[in-house]
Amino acid sequence: MTGIVIVGAQFGDEGKGKIVDYLVDRLKIDYVVRFQGGNNAGHTVVVGNEKFKLHHVPSGVVQGKQCFLGNGMVIDPKVLIDEINNLKERGINPKLTISPLAHVITEKHKELDAADSKIGTTKRGIGPAYSDKISRSGTRFSELNSVYPNYYSELSKYIGDVSLKVNQALEKKKKVLFEGAQGTLLDIDFGTYPFVTSSNTIAGGACVGAGVSPKKISLIIGVSKAYTTRVGSGPFPTELKNEVGEQIRNKGAEFGTTTGRPRRCGWLDAVMLNYAIRLNGIDSIALTKLDILSGLKELKICTAYGYNGKILRTFPFDAKILEKCEPIYETLHGWPEFSHEEWQKFAKLKFERLPKEIRNYILLIERLTKTPISLVSFGPDRNDTFIRHKILV
Ligand code: IMP
Repeated sequence: MTGIVIVGAQFGDEGKGKIVDYLVDRLKIDYVVRFQGGNNAGHTVVVGNEKFKLHHVPSGVVQGKQCFLGNGMVIDPKVLIDEINNLKERGINPKLTISPLAHVITEKHKELDAADSKIGTTKRGIGPAYSDKISRSGTRFSELNSVYPNYYSELSKYIGDVSLKVNQALEKKKKVLFEGAQGTLLDIDFGTYPFVTSSNTIAGGACVGAGVSPKKISLIIGVSKAYTTRVGSGPFPTELKNEVGEQIRNKGAEFGTTTGRPRRCGWLDAVMLNYAIRLNGIDSIALTKLDILSGLKELKICTAYGYNGKILRTFPFDAKILEKCEPIYETLHGWPEFSHEEWQKFAKLKFERLPKEIRNYILLIERLTKTPISLVSFGPDRNDTFIRHKILV
């Protein structure tokens, strides 16, 4: 079994693109599969001086890997063609297979989504496309010719049986990485409904959205920022509506890859992270953007919620309850600013030799979640990564 799932453990934008890119290289991944969502996602992959912004296509494409767009996705054909052409212009001829069972995002879907004012969607037509799928009136990629013949002629060569090919690869003991989009708290069932996306973003979605058995998944990695961000509406107990939140937003360049909207920023929430660990079966955490917290005097991690005079240690299933939850924090000392060179030096050191405050922050997360942190990322580049625990496949 060599199926590895990477999921977002928060509200999306956790830095999955960078972690996928890093692991494709380190774990010698053969195939990368996307299984849900569409171009509401935005992955930024930085390789050397080159920055790639991807929406439908998995990050593994940058390394020339065979990539799959699974049946669980909704795809805007025009945007996908632009993405493919953009990659070609930069010397990458994407190896892509699109499931004929994936659904097409049409102009009508985008018009309907444009009217949304409640959820703060990305307005890419995602919700309406999934609505049509569930009400059995959608258009699948196998029928693209009937709605957009021009796009079909450009994309037809990429359409193929994703479930068959991925299963054949797994049979041959190839390493297949399933790349989640958005995050656990945006899951249609388990997220902060109705302020969620329209697909199952959790690890189980990889099986449904690509046509593989749960028996084929042997490793699940959850990606979490060292703090929390959210775009769009919905409850967010640890949100910082003050200058600390502002500082994190500016330093972390917390503006949406897809829509450019400023992201709401707040402290890390271990209650939320534990919920994500439970729902996904996360084996280890990849902690990203730790460097962004540098220079803050104190750091806080939410360990429980206060609600109606009670203490909640588990995540409430109802967003209306979550809205009224007050975070209870454990406070830690921050660490000073370090130059990029100093961070890169840290990456070569044993954990025990890192500055005490950084160690304490990482150790507290591990203690609160009872889950190892395998990777710590302190910059967008592949090399800006500290290995805390080896990932064994
Ligand atoms: P939709 O997925 O466009 O329908 O948007 C539903 C909610 O999910 C909104 O709050 C969006 O901001 C959020 N969302 C969708 N995709 C992403 C993403 O890739 N990162 C972060 N938030 C997202």
